Amino acid sequence: MSECIVINEVGPRDGLQSQDKHLTVAERASLIKSLLTAGLQHIEAGSFVSPRAVPQMAGTDEVFHLLGPENSPYLSALVPNMKGYELARSAGASTVAVVVSATETMNQKNINMSLQQTLETAANIIRRGRAEGARVQAYLSVAFECPYEGKVAADTILSQARQLAAWDADEIVIADTIGAADPASVRSLLNALVAEHGAEKIACHFHDTRAMGLANTFAAIESGVRRFDSSLGGLGGCPFAPGAKGNVATEDVVMMCEQMGFKTGVQMPLLLAAVKMVSELTGHTQGGRAHYWLSNNAV
Ligand code: COA
Ligand code: ZN
Repeated sequence: MSECIVINEVGPRDGLQSQDKHLTVAERASLIKSLLTAGLQHIEAGSFVSPRAVPQMAGTDEVFHLLGPENSPYLSALVPNMKGYELARSAGASTVAVVVSATETMNQKNINMSLQQTLETAANIIRRGRAEGARVQAYLSVAFECPYEGKVAADTILSQARQLAAWDADEIVIADTIGAADPASVRSLLNALVAEHGAEKIACHFHDTRAMGLANTFAAIESGVRRFDSSLGGLGGCPFAPGAKGNVATEDVVMMCEQMGFKTGVQMPLLLAAVKMVSELTGHTQGGRAHYWLSNNAV
């Protein structure tokens, strides 16, 4: 039997949060429906953050309501604090994502908290989520390089991951927020993390800023990682991390993994239809690096 790669589609959050055109709640919900139809079973539907900080994500509760309880097992939401956790849970989110940035400055810029405050908040959300039956993904953002403080030492990430694991996060997501990692650094960090925590606990989130998104994905696969974030059409960026470009494109990751013999459960023509939809909705042509080839050859 083929091995599976689990794809967590983050376009509706990481992708849409950096678009100058703000999609309506109905548009966001129909995009998510088209991703579900394409076979994606893990989708970050939005975030519960200050609408002043990220107006693109206002109304995420309504997105959840439009999609209904039948779809909520497939959906997650990013939460920066306990207020966000409570809003996400009352909207029906079964999975929440907390974000710890590895550096002091990135936490300040992103969520106006010190690293210490962010870690305390993460600990509280993880413990409460576990007690209340929610799945909690804990992100370690700027895990390779910070746009403000430069390179991040692997030991910093190893010790932060150890803390998140001690609080019993369901999953630790190593996020290369600005797309600064390379396959050699990915391999060495992920080898260490997988050896310590097991591959089931670890996921990766790559951006394609320097065209190394797929190479980094491959390096992590070689280290044993089987869970990846990606974004349809390579949509993405972070409004608080200068220089961050889109996530590695879901269609590129699906193509590479399937060609190597892994199963993703994603139907390429339907995924390409979702990419077409998001291009129309955002008013910009979106598409990963293999877009032209896939558009002409995917069956
Ligand atoms: N959801 C919605 N509103 C929230 C909120 C949440 N999770 N947390 C706080 N707020 C509201 C407060 O109620 C308050 O509203 P008011 O001014 O109308 O009373 C306002 O936001 C400011 O709250 P405060 O606690 O003082 O927060 P802050 O100004 O220090 O901002 C965050 C902190 C975390 C709310 C804000 O920085 C944020 O939302 N950041 C998100 C960044 C992000 O999404 N980054 C990309 C993903 S990693
Ligand atoms: Zn990201």
